Amino acid sequence: MRRRVEDIVGKWTEEKLELLEKYLRAYATIMNKQKRTWLKAFHYIDAFAGSGRARAKDEERYILGSPLRALQCDPPFDCLWFIELSPKRVEWLQRLQLEFPNRCIKIRKGDCNQILRQEVIPQITRQSQQRGLVFLDPYGLQVEWETVVALAKARTFDVFVNFPLMAVTRVLKRDEPPKGWSKELLVKVFGNDKWVESLYRPSEQLPLFGKPPVIRDIVRAEWLARIYSDQIATLFPFVSKPVIMLNSKNAPLYALFLASHNKTAVKIVNDIFGRYERLREVGR
Ligand SMILES: C[S@@+](CC[C@H](N)C(=O)[O-])C[C@H]1O[C@@H](n2cnc3c(N)ncnc32)[C@H](O)[C@@H]1O
Repeated sequence: MRRRVEDIVGKWTEEKLELLEKYLRAYATIMNKQKRTWLKAFHYIDAFAGSGRARAKDEERYILGSPLRALQCDPPFDCLWFIELSPKRVEWLQRLQLEFPNRCIKIRKGDCNQILRQEVIPQITRQSQQRGLVFLDPYGLQVEWETVVALAKARTFDVFVNFPLMAVTRVLKRDEPPKGWSKELLVKVFGNDKWVESLYRPSEQLPLFGKPPVIRDIVRAEWLARIYSDQIATLFPFVSKPVIMLNSKNAPLYALFLASHNKTAVKIVNDIFGRYERLREVGR
């Protein structure tokens, strides 16, 4: 086994994981009750699992990553899927199978879009009377719209999304609407790029050559989060209010929200996020 190359994470990552953990507990409690009647099993699917543990920035302290939080959830998930692209992180995830020998842990190495669509979604069907909670926690624009469509169509999954706002704004140039690869990427992630148009207007500067240059408006984090969560609301009947996760300088990084087929699930998440936002406001 190779020496551990640690992921170092900031305070916002810890806050994100605490919000996830609260929802994991609520979800598992509700699902566990359903097992007394019709439900056969409920799964946790970590599509961007990481390595299981990370180190807190500026501190000699380990933070439990999403896989470990899900493993420690009470009541327990029947089965946990950890999908990860990086071979080195997969090695660390495999250690969790040794730490928790009595649990059903399925580790998959590769791109989560393929693995979700080809393996996970076909297994957790309504017919099989199973349900799953999927956590989508990418660094960048890796979640394909086609994958979200497939998850929604199955009608067996709640999806807890951590949407990378910064990764989107990096693709949106100030003086030119996306074209070529950047346009393709936005369509691949959002399903379309109609919303991009409203961001650009003709610049007041006189053009030197050809077409008048355009200028991009400031992309507000709340607006962008809404664009994506509204897109998702075309697939899922209930979507929570997004909460914007900020870095230590209060710059928006990600938007966290839940998409579900269940109204109560979304109400629970709105309550969890509401409490978090009120506490964050007091702490400022
Ligand atoms: C933000 S980290 C995940 C952290 C983890 N969810 C946690 O809270 O402990 C994103 C992870 O996704 C992995 N990754 C990137 N692209 C991926 C893909 N297409 N499919 C699966 N994993 C991917 C990266 O190697 C990285 O470990």
